[in-house]
Amino acid sequence: MIPHATYYVNLAPASQQVLARSLDTVPAVGYRGKRWLTTTKGGRLRVGCASAPGTPASAEPAEFRLDLEGLLGLADLFRRIIDFRSPFTATHSAGVAATAARLACLAGLSEMECRMMRAAGYLHDIGKLAVPAEILEKPGPLTKHEFNIIKQHAFHSYRIIESLPTLDVVNRWASLHHERLDGRGYPFHYSGRELSLGSRIMSVADVFTALTEQRPYRHAMEAAKALDVVRELGCASALDLEIVSLLASHLDEVDAERRAAQAAAGEDYKASTGKGPA
Ligand SMILES: [Fe+2]
Repeated sequence: MIPHATYYVNLAPASQQVLARSLDTVPAVGYRGKRWLTTTKGGRLRVGCASAPGTPASAEPAEFRLDLEGLLGLADLFRRIIDFRSPFTATHSAGVAATAARLACLAGLSEMECRMMRAAGYLHDIGKLAVPAEILEKPGPLTKHEFNIIKQHAFHSYRIIESLPTLDVVNRWASLHHERLDGRGYPFHYSGRELSLGSRIMSVADVFTALTEQRPYRHAMEAAKALDVVRELGCASALDLEIVSLLASHLDEVDAERRAAQAAAGEDYKASTGKGPA
């Protein structure tokens, strides 16, 4: 139990600003309806929660419950911290989340599962927080060692989300996004039936979204061209062909949702950092 919860988080200045703004947008997370209070102070972010007037400082919260809406708000907060480290990834998780959630609905998942898929999309690259920014933004080809460091992010995502057992399904959808049906993916080299429908959807959403984004080493692709590449990966037994077909038959709808989500995230990034995404 955390009595009258107040703690400090050490963050880079840009992340402090982003987190402070993000916390303002997070829906009430269940602390008896009281909002979290945030102030930046001395290079650190002070995070506390309000208590009723007259409540002794030693009183403990009677309840702290996080529902799916609260999870989505927190996942969106983490999405900003993850993506805003680089202008090249500033809108990536927003695009993956929108694409994956739409594909999940088209695949017949329930409304609740579609929202869980959105949260998984926000969190799928959380392990990139362990990857140095100079590797994420390196303009030239990566060395084998650097590429191996980047690949470790999927395992880090798994270990970070694993700390919340109730997010087990979300974790598998999020952290297995680099696995491949033929077993040649990472980090666990799962294949075929070891990969759930949700994990397969996330893989397609991640590849499709990434291809439509500008990178230091290549230009962004139009949606139709990105779909061609996704199709090739489906035919090569890397991605699920049924999900690829779903994307192909609803390309305009899915891509419009992705673009809208990434445009909004780009505006948010610009407002937070004063510069636009790449
Ligand atoms: Fe990733």
